[in-house]
Amino acid sequence: MTSEPFDAVSVIRTKRDRRRIPDPEIDWVIDAYTRGVVADEQMSALAMAILLNGMERDELARWTAAMINSGQRLDLSAVARPTTDKHSTGGVGDKITLPLAPLVAACGAAVPQLSGRGLGHTGGTLDKLEAIPGWRAQLSNDEFLAQLNSVGAVICAAGDELAPADRKLYALRDVTATVEAIPLIASSIMSKKIAEGAQSLVLDVKVGSGAFMKTIEDATELAQTMVELGTAHGTKTVALLTEMSTPLGLTAGNGLEVTESIEVLAGGGPADVVELTVALAREMLAGVGLDSVDPAEVLAGGRAMDVWRGMIRAQGGDPEAALPVARHKHVVTAAASGTLTRLDAYAVGVAAWRLGAGRARKEDPVSAGAGVVLLVKPGATVSAGQPLLELHSDDEARFGRAEEALAGAIDIGAAAVGAAPLIIKRVE
Ligand code: URA
Repeated sequence: MTSEPFDAVSVIRTKRDRRRIPDPEIDWVIDAYTRGVVADEQMSALAMAILLNGMERDELARWTAAMINSGQRLDLSAVARPTTDKHSTGGVGDKITLPLAPLVAACGAAVPQLSGRGLGHTGGTLDKLEAIPGWRAQLSNDEFLAQLNSVGAVICAAGDELAPADRKLYALRDVTATVEAIPLIASSIMSKKIAEGAQSLVLDVKVGSGAFMKTIEDATELAQTMVELGTAHGTKTVALLTEMSTPLGLTAGNGLEVTESIEVLAGGGPADVVELTVALAREMLAGVGLDSVDPAEVLAGGRAMDVWRGMIRAQGGDPEAALPVARHKHVVTAAASGTLTRLDAYAVGVAAWRLGAGRARKEDPVSAGAGVVLLVKPGATVSAGQPLLELHSDDEARFGRAEEALAGAIDIGAAAVGAAPLIIKRVE
């Protein structure tokens, strides 16, 4: 029998008593948990102690390093262009990765984007792309590197070897009410992103009802924590805090969001999606010294669309194929006349999820056609009976529960409202 150098109970006790966990014990507890030596119930207790008592900066940096070291770090040295990536903390209608990755590649950088599937009310990038007939999310390391060099952008599933400690710990946090701890969110996101190996990283930290972080204070703390972790590990990192109290763009749902992204790549699309795509592209390019390229100009010139087509084809998809459309539609109308003052992002996310766009358990399938289309955005003048939202589903029985999610989510008032700024602040 191999003897372990530490025991989990004393590590838990250290954090329970608000003390810093010594470095060798951090390294051990992450490694031993990945190996199955530290039990789920012990890691749950430790996660809860971290949620309640926090972590010191250098303690968190070591914890994150241990998570990175639980798996492989991708080697992107064979990629000829500078590498840069973006990560969003997740929101409703957040399809930005889809136009952003090909746009940044069209500007001269390489974008290695390892993404996940959605869980709960926020969608996952891979679920969206899987709405495209033939597109596949799984690539071998060789395919990944070859596509980065030839096309310049790859969006694919993260392999099991990337930060395996996080995969286990995230699933555990999900069922033990410990997702919301800032040190645990920051180390979870940054361990995966640092292991991915890009030279620079831009974080889109969402704030509002549809986001993890409900207040600017919490979002700022998360952003600062992640920027510090990235910088400490040699990845040039900046964060933008962006608005998520109403959905981004006019769609929430897999195929619907792909259609909207293609509109952006074609030079159209909703103004907020275009604004955020261009702002994040500027940050990504600046991070790798390509600040002389103007992404707005490149987008208008159509080169990003060419990269999109190449990116989809390289992964077996047909960029010209019609996207799946839901069998049934149902319209939600305005209850009164006036100005639409609130259309709650969280409620729209839950409605899209209940219509079939999202999953409740990891293994559930998602519907490519289901989701919500916004016919108006906050600030618009509406009259009683006017259609506000279109619900799309393959299953008519789902409309009732989706409408229940939207109860109380729509406010119509007398006064005009000024639009909230989409980009709240920058953290570096
Ligand atoms: N996304 C992650 O990858 N990890 C978290 O903890 C939260 C959001």
